[in-house]
Amino acid sequence: MIRVALVGAGYWGPNLIRNFFVCPDTTLVAVCDMDRARLDKVLAGYPGVDAEDSFAALVRRDDVDALVIATPVGSHAPLALAGLRAGKHVLVEKPMAASVREAEAMVAAAREAGRVLMVDHTFVYSGPVRKIKEIVDSGELGDIYYVDSVRINLGLFQHDVNVVWDLAPHDLSIVDYLIGRLPRSLSAFGTCHTDAASGIEDVAYLNLDFGDGLLASFHVNWLSPVKIRSFLIGGSRKGLVYNDLSPDEKIKVYDRGITFADDAESRHGVMIGYRTGDVWSPRIQGHEPLQAMVRHFAECIRDGITPLTDGDAGLRIVRILEAAQRSIKAQGGRITL
Ligand SMILES: NC(=O)c1ccc[n+]([C@@H]2O[C@H](COP(=O)([O-])OP(=O)(O)OC[C@H]3O[C@@H](n4cnc5c(N)ncnc54)[C@H](O)[C@@H]3O)[C@@H](O)[C@H]2O)c1
Repeated sequence: MIRVALVGAGYWGPNLIRNFFVCPDTTLVAVCDMDRARLDKVLAGYPGVDAEDSFAALVRRDDVDALVIATPVGSHAPLALAGLRAGKHVLVEKPMAASVREAEAMVAAAREAGRVLMVDHTFVYSGPVRKIKEIVDSGELGDIYYVDSVRINLGLFQHDVNVVWDLAPHDLSIVDYLIGRLPRSLSAFGTCHTDAASGIEDVAYLNLDFGDGLLASFHVNWLSPVKIRSFLIGGSRKGLVYNDLSPDEKIKVYDRGITFADDAESRHGVMIGYRTGDVWSPRIQGHEPLQAMVRHFAECIRDGITPLTDGDAGLRIVRILEAAQRSIKAQGGRITL
C-alpha cells in the first residue's frame, strides 16, 4: 500500500480524496488545508484520515510515501519541492507550475531525489482520449493535418490565473499525449472583460504550429452562454470529432476527405475530388478518469514506471502556457519554442 497525504481540500481536492480513499493500492493517511473549518467539513466522511493544518508538519511525517498537491498553481512548486526534498513521491495538479523555471526545478528535484513526479492531466486517463490515441496510432486517420479544440462555458472565473492557464492545460495535454512533441511556434490572443487592473484574460485563442503541416487551434472562454467541449482532428484519410458532452457517442470517425490529382490539362493544375463514406462511433470504456490516474500513480511508485504524464510532460505544457502568455501580451506576436 502506498501511504498518501493530500494538500488542498478546496474545490478539486475532494475528488482526489475520494479516489485515493477507495483506491485498492493506496491508503489516505492525512489531508492538509490551511483552512481548518474547510478541512473538518471535507474529512467528515473519511474516518481514520488525519486532519493537518500545517504543511511543514505534514511533510515531516515518516508514515507518508507520497504527496498529492491540489492547491492553487502559485504554490505547486514550493510545496512539490519541499515534498521531493523530504523524499516523497509527488502528484501535482495541472498546470504543473506557474513558470517554466519552477517546472524545471521540480523535474530536476525529482531526478535528484529518485522519486516519481507526476502531473494530473486528467483527460489523458479518460476512456475517450485513450480511444482517440488508439485510433490515431493505428494510422486510421492518416497524417494529422490539424486539431481544432473548443472548451467554452460561463465561468468558473478564477482569481489567480487566466482562462489559458485554467482551461488550456486540458486540451494541450490531450494533444501532447497524441503527438508527443512541442509545437515549433505559437501565437495567441486574449482579452480581459472584467477587472482591467487584474488583467486576467477570460477569452483566448491559441494557434500552434507543429511543423510538417500540422496546425492546432484552441479556444478557451469563461464568457460563453453555452458549454461546448469539442475537439476535431483532421487527417489525410479520415476525420474524428470528440464531443465530451455527448452522453453516448463521444467520438465519431468520419470517412470523409479529399482526393487530388495533378491535372496538367486543367488551368487549375490540381483536380480536387470529395470523398464521403461511413461514419462510426467506437465503444468507449466507462471508467472514472481520476481513478485510472490515481492507480497509475500508485503503479509508477510501486513498479518504478515513468508516468504517462510525468514531470517532462507537465513542463512541456507549462512551456506552451508561458509562451502563450507572452504572445498575448505582445498582441499575438509569434513565439518560437
Ligand atoms: N484536473 C482537473 O480537472 C482540475 C479541475 C479543477 C481544478 N484543478 C486544479 O486543482 C488545483 C486547485 O484548484 P481548486 O479550484 O480546488 O482551488 P481552491 O482554491 O478551491 O482550493 C485550494 C485549497 O488549497 C488550500 N491551500 C492553499 N495553499 C495551501 C497551503 N500552502 N497549505 C495548505 N493548504 C493550502 C486552500 O485553503 C484551499 O482550500 C489547481 O491547480 C487547479 O488547476 C484541476
